[in-house]
Formats: sequence, structure tokens, C-alpha cells
Amino acid sequence: MNTVMGLSDDVRAVAQELLAQESVTIISHIDADGISGESILSQALSRAGIRVTSVFVRQLEPLTMRQVPKDDTFKLFCDLGAGQQNLINEYGLCENEVAIIDHHVNQPCGRDYLQANCLPFGYTKLSAAGVAYLVAKEIDSGNTDLAPLAVIGNVGDMMAREDCGLTGPAQEIAYEGAAHGLVEIRKRDLNCYGISTRPLHVCLSYNDDPFIPGISNNSGGALRFLQKLGIPLHDNLRRWLVWEEIPYEDRRVISSALAQQLLANGGNITRLFCESYLFPGERERTPLRNAQEYATLLNACGRWARPRVGGNICRGDRGVAYREAEHMLTNHRAIIRELLHFILDSGVTELSHLQYIHVGNRYPDTIVGIGAGMALSKLNREKPILIMVEQPEDPSLTKVSLRATEQMLMKGCDLQVVATTASEKFGGAGGGHRIAAGAFIPRESEQEFIQHVNELLAGQCKNQGAGHR
Ligand code: C5P
Repeated sequence: MNTVMGLSDDVRAVAQELLAQESVTIISHIDADGISGESILSQALSRAGIRVTSVFVRQLEPLTMRQVPKDDTFKLFCDLGAGQQNLINEYGLCENEVAIIDHHVNQPCGRDYLQANCLPFGYTKLSAAGVAYLVAKEIDSGNTDLAPLAVIGNVGDMMAREDCGLTGPAQEIAYEGAAHGLVEIRKRDLNCYGISTRPLHVCLSYNDDPFIPGISNNSGGALRFLQKLGIPLHDNLRRWLVWEEIPYEDRRVISSALAQQLLANGGNITRLFCESYLFPGERERTPLRNAQEYATLLNACGRWARPRVGGNICRGDRGVAYREAEHMLTNHRAIIRELLHFILDSGVTELSHLQYIHVGNRYPDTIVGIGAGMALSKLNREKPILIMVEQPEDPSLTKVSLRATEQMLMKGCDLQVVATTASEKFGGAGGGHRIAAGAFIPRESEQEFIQHVNELLAGQCKNQGAGHR
């Protein structure tokens, strides 16, 4: 099968169907990929003279499905829908009023909905915003100014994580943005989070992939390391410099010293560097300056129930929406830090192939997965983590999030399969990706569910070297 042709045929079919509509309702996900994907699609459609309204949902499930209006607008699902076609069908939507733009596993139902999904064509490292961008470009080739939003969606959905940079069509999109001067691509940049906003020593200390003894989780050690190199760490206003601002030559000195430190401790330097994506048109020292931090800002909006604020930022609002998002980001970080400490202080329960914790009703279900993912690097790095949280709006349900590491994937771990199979066994529903997945399960089945997840993971680790994400 010619996979490139296959996906572009589907992209073209979705674009043509959309161009034939007068009015479209976009139903998108509340995370960075869903918000940037919605923003790409709504801008492309409005520019084509099509009326657009948008609905954001946390998950497509019977309760949230009710937010999909029962009217005569065309329904365009983004970053969700592929795995919930049964639900779309049960809701009474027919083939001629639906299109799906997604990158999740398909769950076919009786109906053959129009779909542009990169996953069946083998593109495992393209997000929904990436596919949305391909559709936008098919709607009008002038829509290339939307490339930065696709880069944010791709990076936000961790498409750059495994290979320390975007690959395939996601990388081509970034290069398209660079050709228009909208994206600055830095090759062999430092593989660190916070390159535009965090003082350099803090940025280095927060990084634990790879773990550098004396620097990771040790901001004092990181500062001493930098001071020894004799590199200026402040600007002329006495503000700490951020990585992005450090002159090229100094960045090289720091990078090679980090590599030496890692090698001296028997580490591997391959993950020390990555390709990073900056937005030169944005204000310096703000989270809007690079794809990773921009994605976190959007996640903060979405996960705290204000996805529209994120959408306004994607559309260029740098006033009210941006200020609101900054507050949400501060809050988002503070709560996640608190959750991280809660997990580490309370401790997890370890089974043979899994570690887990229940956080009761202390934290919202939209962020527990993020906290668990961060805790994983400070816990047993050999076993996936499972975190459970109560559902305040439905006490009979428990939300579960699962997180793994790249190393676990290499051993055959697939959390998407685990979440889907185990939740179905107990009458719940789940999905996601190999590295990050989630599910809703009946509260009464929590313990049996955990045991079953442990068994499934034990089975997967036996099948070493299975598939890709
Ligand atoms: O909620 P959480 O951050 O743990 O979700 C991780 C991944 O699992 C996301 O891609 C999300 O869409 C997916 N998920 C799912 N079904 C659920 C919960 C999460 O497909 N019930």
C-alpha cells in the first residue's frame, strides 16, 4: 500500500467535503493537540467563508456527547472520534454529516464515516493538529501560516519525544514553517524543557532524560557546574539568562561539558540533544517562544476547563487571553508540583510489573496523568505507573491514568492496549497511546482492574521488541 498516497487521498476527501458545507461544528479535545487542531481547522474554514462553531470536550463519552448540537451543521471531530464511532453512530449521526480528523486507534462501527487518520497508514508520530494542518492546506494552499500551530500540536502530543525531534510529515510541517520564517529549527539543541522561560541552571536541573548525576534534580549542583565553565549567566538587567538567549558558542561549551559529565558517569549522550522548535515572532522569555512551553500553556487552559482561552491565544490574542492563560499556567504548575510531592510523599504500591497510587478526590482527573508521568522519573523507572482518582460528578466511576517511559516501550509495553482491554473487561472504556493512556472504570472494580493491568503488562514484557508507538 502506498501510505503517503493513502493519507493524502483521505485528507483531500475530507477537505472537499468541508468545502461543500455552509456551517460546521468542530468537536475537539481539550489538550494542546485538540486546541491547536481546532484553531487550525476553524481558521481554515472561516477563511473559506464557512461558518464555524466549536465545542471542546474532555473525552468523547455519552455524557459529553450531549454537547454536540443536534442541528443541521456538519460535525467535524478533531483529535477524537476514531475510537468512539459507535458513540457517534448511537447519537444518530449519519455518514453525510460527519468527518473525523484523528490519530487514535480506530474502533469501526456499522457506519463508514469519512476520516483522515494518519495511524492506519503507519504514521505513529503525527498528531491530530498535524493532520488538521494537511487538511487546511488542502482547503487552501495559502494556509501554511498555520504550520506553527501544527508544530505545537505535534510537540504537545509528544510526537518529538522518542526520536528527540519531529520526524516524517510532522518534521516536514516544521520545515514548511521555517521556510516561511515562522519557525526557527535548532538542530542538536539541548533536550530540556523550559528553554525560553527558566533560568538555565533550573532548566538543567529539571531535566532527567537523560539523568545527569550532580545536575538532574539538583539546581545548586547545576549552578556550580555552569559557574565553573565561566559563562555569563545574567543579562545586563541582572536577570538570569534562559538557554535560548545564551550565545551559540557558549551553548556549545555547555553542551560538550554536559556530554562529558554524562559520559564520565557511564551515561549515553544520544538523548542529551534534540531538534527544537522556536517561534521568533513571539515575545522573548515567554512560554510562547517554543513549541514545548506553548503546548503546556494550551494544556493549562484546556485541563482547567478554559480551552477557548487557549484557542484565542492560537488565533493571536496576546492581551486578555494571554494574561488569563499565564495565570492558569502558574496555577497548573503549582498544582502539578503539589501532586508530584503528594505521590512521592505518600509512596506508590508496587506489584510485579506495575506501581500504582489512588489520590482520592484531591486532584482533578484531567491532570493526574501529567503528575504521574513526572513522578515516574523519580520512582521505579522499570515499571509503568497507574494513578486513580475519584470522579466527583459520578461517584460510581474511577478515572485511571497510565504512564510509561521510552525504555518500557522498547521492552514491549503498550499502555493503549492495556487501558482498552482491562477497562472493557470491567465494563469501562479507555484508550490513548503506547506511552500514555487512560480509562474510566467502575469504582467497585478498582482492585481487580489493577491486578488485571499487572497481568497484561507481565504478558507484554515477555513479547520483547514488539511494534512501535
Ligand atoms: O487522561 P490522561 O492524560 O491519562 O490520558 C492519556 C491518553 O489517554 C490521552 O491520549 C487520552 O485521550 C486517552 N484516554 C482515552 N480514554 C480515556 C482516558 C484517556 O482514550 N477514558
